[in-house]
Amino acid sequence: MSELQSFDWSGWSEHELKRVDLAMQQWLKPFEPQALYESMSHALLGGGKRLRPLLCLAAREAMREFDGAKPRADLEQAALRAACALEMVHAYSLVHDDMPCMDNDVLRRGLPTVHVKFGESMALLCGDALQTLAFEVITPEPQEVSEAIQARLCRILSRAAGLQGMCGGQAIDLSSVGLRLTQAQLELMHAKKTGALLRASVLMGAACSHLEDSRWQSCAQFLTTFAEKLGLAFQVIDDVLDVVSDAKTLGKTPGKDALNDKPNFVALLGLEGARDYAMGLYDEALDQLSQSGLKQTQALGALAALVVHRKS
Ligand code: IPE
Ligand code: IPE
Ligand code: MG
Ligand code: MG
Ligand code: MG
Repeated sequence: MSELQSFDWSGWSEHELKRVDLAMQQWLKPFEPQALYESMSHALLGGGKRLRPLLCLAAREAMREFDGAKPRADLEQAALRAACALEMVHAYSLVHDDMPCMDNDVLRRGLPTVHVKFGESMALLCGDALQTLAFEVITPEPQEVSEAIQARLCRILSRAAGLQGMCGGQAIDLSSVGLRLTQAQLELMHAKKTGALLRASVLMGAACSHLEDSRWQSCAQFLTTFAEKLGLAFQVIDDVLDVVSDAKTLGKTPGKDALNDKPNFVALLGLEGARDYAMGLYDEALDQLSQSGLKQTQALGALAALVVHRKS
């Protein structure tokens, strides 16, 4: 039996999802003003695939072989915090992405969007507060997580979320309405807008590991390229689902890219062309995992399959 077949994906993912949800509930406890708490809770705890936390924890799993014999509770703690922080930044990006000044969407994760339910000013603050909460969560007292690891996590997350990453990509997206981008331009937009945070998910998980010798460096490089391929495949499939899916399955309103005249991979390559492109990227991503020589990459492989075969 191959490693992938013998891996208990549903057991692993169920266990990790529970840990993440429990931790996020602990970090977002009810507070005043109630409207801000409720909007944050709606955005963060109201569903979603939790792909970024799972990628982070799967990368930690793959790099755990560098820890040595002694269990490293501090590194497990760091990875769980990183996983939750990634979901917080992602949830904030969705709240702002849905606002009338951006994509103007009313449905997200099968529920009304935050600005529809709580108003635009609360949606703005909700996103801001989710983003800063993410950085609170990855910077606990040094007894819990070493300051060196905290700094590494902040370095990766801030660069992925900001002008070089997600925000930069969103700015390209908004300023490209009605334009016909070349494939290279579209790839750059996707790499920043969505790819950067997915890449950071893998890098943050990998950063929560012990040894940094030359083999560690080489494994981290393979995981980085894996994440870059996967990040692009993810947004290509998002573009495909926007065309082929329905609101009930997707949990958001389909057809918005064409309606808003957004550059996207279906417009560039056609439906089948976009699907084939994503599958090619998936194969290349898996190839990076096997070339890495890491032993525990089954969860990463299963997540890659989920990215390209998902229905929502
Ligand atoms: C949707 O991301 C937004 C993009 C980055 C394209 P996901 O498809 O991961 O959304 P959730 O977290 O499952 O709702
Ligand atoms: C959003 O991309 C990416 C971020 C939130 C950073 P989209 O606008 O394509 O995402 P959906 O389709 O609304 O989920
Ligand atoms: Mg958008
Ligand atoms: Mg959108
Ligand atoms: Mg989309």
